[in-house]
Amino acid sequence: MERVLVTGGTGFIGSHTIVELHNKGYEVDVVDNLCNSKAEILDGVEKITGKKPELFKVDIRDKEALEKIFSERRYGLVIHFAGLKAVPESIEKPLEYYENNISGTINLLECMKEHGVHKIIFSSSATVYGTQEKSKLDETMVTGQGITNPYGETKYMIEEILKDVADSDPEFSCTILRYFNPIGNHESGIIGEDPNGIPLNLMPIIMKVAKGKIPQLQICGTDYPTPDGTGIRDYIHVVDLAKGHIAAAEHMKPGASIYNLGTGRGTSVREMVTAFEKASGKALPCVEAPRRPGDIAEVYADPSKAERELNWKTELTIDDAMRDTLKFLSSHEA
Ligand code: NAD
Ligand code: WQD
Repeated sequence: MERVLVTGGTGFIGSHTIVELHNKGYEVDVVDNLCNSKAEILDGVEKITGKKPELFKVDIRDKEALEKIFSERRYGLVIHFAGLKAVPESIEKPLEYYENNISGTINLLECMKEHGVHKIIFSSSATVYGTQEKSKLDETMVTGQGITNPYGETKYMIEEILKDVADSDPEFSCTILRYFNPIGNHESGIIGEDPNGIPLNLMPIIMKVAKGKIPQLQICGTDYPTPDGTGIRDYIHVVDLAKGHIAAAEHMKPGASIYNLGTGRGTSVREMVTAFEKASGKALPCVEAPRRPGDIAEVYADPSKAERELNWKTELTIDDAMRDTLKFLSSHEA
């Protein structure tokens, strides 16, 4: 089985993907500078799979250090999760985001080229669709228009860079995966989303409210043109998302291929709260709040291309995600 280099492998999605890679027999090494994660998560991976990947604590912008890793090991595939991802922070510190995400990716691509590694899977985001007339997003839609923050721009720009590299090199295979809203964690509750700092996304905030670390969830916008007035998103269980990477790894082909990874179903903020309350058996303190600037009413994936071409579709539900989140919360500080 080929050896896989996972950048950002101590992060939320990376660690779950490593579990699935191990389950399929892949050998995995990790590069992460630990700016938004902890090395101990790999102990959790070992508890689940019986294998611990080697961690290189390296910043992907450090060309020399990255080069050293590529010269010591032979990789068949790189899965590239490493990047900064906090939308508001990217508005405050645009240069940091462009530098980290874009320079880091260019370094990585240069190392891959120099060492004859031709396959990469990249973590993109539904954010590249920017503002669209329709709520159901498919891969044929125009991207890069109406993106409201530098984080989203970095994802769009990296996609363009990858497409150009694929055009220049007939051996190069890249699969761009556009994630919708990942939630949940491994069913064991051993690993889960544990970001450094104050959370900004809905589920990590719900987790903090459940733990009493934040007094209440602000429901941001109750006057959207949706059935219950709150925003609708496509929440995908992170284990389904991780399995999407295995499907992508098994279907790599020359050129650039792009897939949405989502469930195809939208869920409102109020429905998320109700699902969490059902799973926990307790009321979650909530308060109505104004819309968040830049938010849209409703988006969800058309995941049919991934189903057709990668033979992948989601299997887990929002209720599964809530159950698994509670398991994680019962043994971790949110
Ligand atoms: P995460 O922050 O948990 O993981 C990213 C990891 O990358 C972290 O461990 C961090 O320490 C590492 N990292 C960042 N910059 C680095 C650098 N210069 N060198 C080495 N390591 C570096 O985030 P996640 O939720 O697991 O997301 C993984 C990827 O998926 C990111 O690229 C993110 O933009 C993308 N994505 C995430 C979401 C989401 O909602 N979680 C949605 C769409 C796309
Ligand atoms: C979900 C819903 C909020 C917080 C962001 C990024 C996107 C992607 C995923 C990486 C919305 C509502 C939230 C709160 C709330 N990341 N909400 N109260 O905005 O869909 O996407 O994360 O690529 O790029 O933009 O996710 O989890 O922040 O919000 O009511 O305290 O929850 O308004 O409807 P979003 P989110």
